[in-house]
Amino acid sequence: MSELNLILLGPPGAGKGTQAERLRGDFGLPYLATGDMLRTHVKENSELGQKAKEFMDAGDLVPDELIIEMLLERIDAEGDDGFLLDGFPRTVPQADALDAAIAERGRRLTAALLIDAPDEVLVRRISGRRVSQSGRVYHVDSNPPEVEGVDDEDGSQLIIRDDDKPETVKNRLKTYHRQTVPLIEYYESRGILQRFDGTRPATEVHDHVRATLATLRLEDRL
Ligand code: AP5
Repeated sequence: MSELNLILLGPPGAGKGTQAERLRGDFGLPYLATGDMLRTHVKENSELGQKAKEFMDAGDLVPDELIIEMLLERIDAEGDDGFLLDGFPRTVPQADALDAAIAERGRRLTAALLIDAPDEVLVRRISGRRVSQSGRVYHVDSNPPEVEGVDDEDGSQLIIRDDDKPETVKNRLKTYHRQTVPLIEYYESRGILQRFDGTRPATEVHDHVRATLATLRLEDRL
């Protein structure tokens, strides 16, 4: 089987991170999530973190030139065992930069996995989200930790993300519709878009993604 180069696409709160955690378990792919990388930069107060913070806190996208460089460096560092990208690309220039960079390295994208859900579901999801220091994702109703407010794995205190405030979420959704939705057509026209109903329970979404990847493999597209 050739390498799996996968993109997770979808609005904030659709369940990209949740599915990524499961898919990493299935395929052992290097996982590159631009949101997690940026939050680490913010925490460490790096130069990039300082620049990115104001955009993230406002629910806007961080400028393409900062993101593209950060991501491509990481893809190179991971070698050629495939990848699972979460939150990148998010604009047409980012998608073009990714296309060019991987073609230059003699690789190709396997599939863009779109996990979609209507805005009202997303707002409910995000308002109940809690995350651990290491990025594990919970939900107060649909996926609570064993002990309220505490990570199951390392016992650390769960927190609410800075950009999960209602006003910021509204702008993140607007930003998604304006800047990221065009990528659906972008990947559909290249024949690699796969759609998933993100309103279904997480286990069902995961089963559907796995079945789709298995079918692609049978069709010898992987
Ligand atoms: P990022 O961290 O990428 O956030 P996002 O895309 O807004 O996505 P989220 O992490 O909010 O949602 P998710 O789809 O992963 O949902 P989750 O699994 O947590 O980006 C943050 C910011 O960084 C951006 O706003 C931007 O400023 C910047 N940035 C990042 N990448 C960038 C880029 N490429 N260019 C420019 N700027 C960039 O699930 C949500 C909740 O729902 C959880 O509580 C979960 O438990 C629950 N849940 C999940 N699935 C289900 C289900 N099926 N049923 C019920 N509940 C579920």
